[in-house]
Amino acid sequence: MVNVAIDGVVQEAQPDELLIDLINRSGVSVPHVCYHPQLGPVQTCDTCMVEVNGRLVRACATPVAEGMRISTKSAKASAAQVEAFDRILSNHLLYCTVCDNNNGNCTVHNTTKLLAIEHQRIPFRSKPYEVDNTNPFYRYDPDQCILCGRCVEACQNVEVNETLSINWEDPNPRVLWDGGSTIGESSCVSCGHCVTVCPCNALMEKTMLGHAGFLTSLKKSALSGMIDVVKGVEPETGYGSILQVSEAEEAMREHRIRKTKTVCTYCGVGCSFDVWTRDRHILKVAPEHGPANGISTCVKGKFGWGHINSDDRLTTPLIREGDKFRQASWDEALSLVARRLSEIKANDGPDSLAFISSSKCTNEESYLMQKLARAVIGTNNVDNCSRYCQSPATQGLFRTVGYGGDSGSISDMEKADLVLIIGSNTAESHPVIATRVKSAHKLDGQKLIVSDLREHEMARRADLFLHPKPGTDLFWLNAISRYLLDNNLAHTKFLDQWVNGLDAYRKSLEPFTMEAAARISGVSQETLKAVAHMIADAKAMCILWAMGVTQHTQGSDTSTAISNLLLVSGNYMRPGTGAYPLRGHNNVQGASDHGSMPNMLPGYQSVDDPGVRQRFEAGWKVKLPSTKGLDNHQMVEAIHAGKLKAMYLIGEEMSIVDSNANYVGDAFAKLAFFVVQDIFFSNTCRYADVVLPGAPSLEKEGTFTSTERRIQRLYQVLEPLEGCKPDWKITQGIANQLGAGWHYQHPSEVMDEIASLTPMFAGVNYERLAGYKSLQWPVAADGTDEPLLYTKRFAFPDGKARLFPVSWIGPTDQPDSEFDLHLNNGRLLEHFHEGNLTYRTEGIRERTPDTFVEVSPELAEERGIQSGTWVQLVSRYGQVRLRALVTDRVHGRELYMPMNSVESPVNQLTSSHTDPVTNTPAYKETSIHMNVLAEVGESPLPRINSRFGHPTPQNGVEVERKWKRPDYAPPGNGLVQLQTKQ
Ligand code: SF4
Ligand code: SF4
Ligand code: SF4
Ligand code: FES
Repeated sequence: MVNVAIDGVVQEAQPDELLIDLINRSGVSVPHVCYHPQLGPVQTCDTCMVEVNGRLVRACATPVAEGMRISTKSAKASAAQVEAFDRILSNHLLYCTVCDNNNGNCTVHNTTKLLAIEHQRIPFRSKPYEVDNTNPFYRYDPDQCILCGRCVEACQNVEVNETLSINWEDPNPRVLWDGGSTIGESSCVSCGHCVTVCPCNALMEKTMLGHAGFLTSLKKSALSGMIDVVKGVEPETGYGSILQVSEAEEAMREHRIRKTKTVCTYCGVGCSFDVWTRDRHILKVAPEHGPANGISTCVKGKFGWGHINSDDRLTTPLIREGDKFRQASWDEALSLVARRLSEIKANDGPDSLAFISSSKCTNEESYLMQKLARAVIGTNNVDNCSRYCQSPATQGLFRTVGYGGDSGSISDMEKADLVLIIGSNTAESHPVIATRVKSAHKLDGQKLIVSDLREHEMARRADLFLHPKPGTDLFWLNAISRYLLDNNLAHTKFLDQWVNGLDAYRKSLEPFTMEAAARISGVSQETLKAVAHMIADAKAMCILWAMGVTQHTQGSDTSTAISNLLLVSGNYMRPGTGAYPLRGHNNVQGASDHGSMPNMLPGYQSVDDPGVRQRFEAGWKVKLPSTKGLDNHQMVEAIHAGKLKAMYLIGEEMSIVDSNANYVGDAFAKLAFFVVQDIFFSNTCRYADVVLPGAPSLEKEGTFTSTERRIQRLYQVLEPLEGCKPDWKITQGIANQLGAGWHYQHPSEVMDEIASLTPMFAGVNYERLAGYKSLQWPVAADGTDEPLLYTKRFAFPDGKARLFPVSWIGPTDQPDSEFDLHLNNGRLLEHFHEGNLTYRTEGIRERTPDTFVEVSPELAEERGIQSGTWVQLVSRYGQVRLRALVTDRVHGRELYMPMNSVESPVNQLTSSHTDPVTNTPAYKETSIHMNVLAEVGESPLPRINSRFGHPTPQNGVEVERKWKRPDYAPPGNGLVQLQTKQ
């Protein structure tokens, strides 16, 4: 610690702490407009000038040092602060009373007040640019822009989309998109970072405009009149009285604007934020304190909430009558469900029923679903959609290190000096995690290796991009492990101390030579050796992987090979290391954690362990089934075999997202009784006998568990739409109709029960999760959690990890002369999965209206295809008709289809082949035949899609260019110490 004096008071500080942070911590008020703790020093505004040992410095860019004497209010400092802020006001019209940003958090307003500015010395100068309204979600008003550059810094170095810049050399600088495009035609991905950090109203969410203030919905002409009035009285009254009026208006807003913390409903990153609402209108999403995301979001979390107030929300239970559905009361629907489930159980036994939990629902809801299956019905036939994606990764980690979850946190991915991404389109599927990797790569010298079939954004940024043949990852991964061991590049000390099974593992690697790996994978030996040496040289490596690995017939084995490689290279047990299977849905981790699995009770406690069963039997006061139940895949088979008669499914578009969709649909049609609970009438509902209207995440309380095992609370933002119920209440209603006698009044009571029965969650309770607090499991009874696993031992009885040998089988469904092309599939940034939620946000639909198939330029030329050409894709299992998009993201005879379609879903084409260990479908092993149709339409991606933009990478806002302007002089009379960015 060092000692410094602020305005004569001695303070202790960390040696490299920024002066502005220390000043803020000390409770001293110093203006600072461009500084944002999550952006670091931007240094554009000059308002934070203070005197240090007699020299003026920017407090935001000066690290504290022993003995500093800081004066924040000396005449020199104050004059500099006011002069700097005057320059800012010359770029901004102060009309707070009629501004939608007048919500107590406007930095320009608050600084005007702090500095007691009464009159502007430098008059406001309008900029010669129009307001840009071309993005569906936000608008830019150059006249209000104070050129602080926060947005540029956020876009360049936090989101790292590199769209924004400021033309400092221009006589009239402004923020530019792609160096001068409209926002709509730029590379902007609408992540919202820039809008979130803008300190005033220059960038604003369109959902705020005209809705936040009492006077802001006035017509533009009336509004302009009022702004003129405000400006007219300013010379006489000064800003003080004007601000008082606006503060009274702001105080009135506090009564009608609610700010409620929630957790994103889309992917597994676990972004959390406040949702601002006025009645049922969502004003904006405000990320700030999220432990996983800070100020970050992607387009879905920031703007993708159109589903909440969508006109076609289900609002009443439906009961099938012949080919039609009729509306029914809750009493009638729940009685029917209970009666039919009881009848089928009585006739065919409990194992003729099955239950599917939703990975969009909360942990508490998943827990109640499996409790309903096990304790009320008496079957272990319960599963969730992690079967479709993540079970193989979990299996690979169970085999080798013990816990089936990410071994560290997102912060470890930032700390790593090497990140290896395999089969994950991270920038589109886990966008906020991608920002952390992109930023560490851009700013901190992190190395990045990407292995994928497609040359997506992460591949283009990578230091090394591998493009192996489809389904061959296991082979090259094993070859690298062998190469490390053979060439004394393995971490032998780590292996000796912490790992069992080296000898058998070494032997299993015999076939995996570099020569064989190059032949099988198509990646050259030279490249593979370069990868091996980069791994050996790295002090800390993380491996990130996703469905490109897991959705193969050897998904579990390839995940195991990844973990083996981490062990061989000693990349566990330290910050910046570990295994990161990126979880898809917001709560796919939690759905499995909380027991919606056919072989595991909550906390991965085996159903065939008598001790475990006894504990749950005592807690639930029932006898529990001891044999493993059916997983999703087996359920479909069992329906076809006539063994499974009834199913209760919550929030899962299974008829489209399961592979070989036609086969799954045929199975559903055979069910004697099918209950589907959802918020929309999904495609799966078409097969139902009873449809129950559940509630989306914003309309209920509970917890989600993100990919980094982080348990977070969501609070109820809105009342459930009339007629809908939170899903836990519906499941409880069904259980009670079946005689269960459950009395949960609130999800916290469910969590208390989970904690009492599950050692992994022993210390989890709602108090410890209040607000933005979170816990990363396992959580000991005293509340201690583990952001980084295995710091002391691996999760096996002897504390040691296990190398688990895996051999090579190779992919199924290989191309042949008839089905000659390989079809890959995956997510698209803008849509989540099939798009049932995201298509209901108009702006998303406008930019990504449909699915398509990506065709390489070489194949397009060979087949006479252009973007917009209609093609028919035919596999051994089905066919779809859709438009082609010609792009060099795909190569040769490999095609790619995003998943976002209900009309032409990729799973009409996929097979029923699975990974034999987990029964996860081999979605990524599909061969097809492509018929080129005569019809040519519009490109399936409109010009306003960000993929057509041209980013302008630069190192942040580049304030040095502003300082070089001939008309720039540092404010104040003293010599300003100019600092470069830290
Ligand atoms: S990508 Fe677009 S929304 Fe995101 S920070 Fe950049 S300009 Fe803003
Ligand atoms: S638009 Fe950007 S530069 Fe302008 S005020 Fe907002 S954050 Fe600052
Ligand atoms: S979809 Fe994922 S990355 Fe995007 S805001 Fe939600 S949790 Fe964050
Ligand atoms: S806060 Fe803007 S220069 Fe320091």
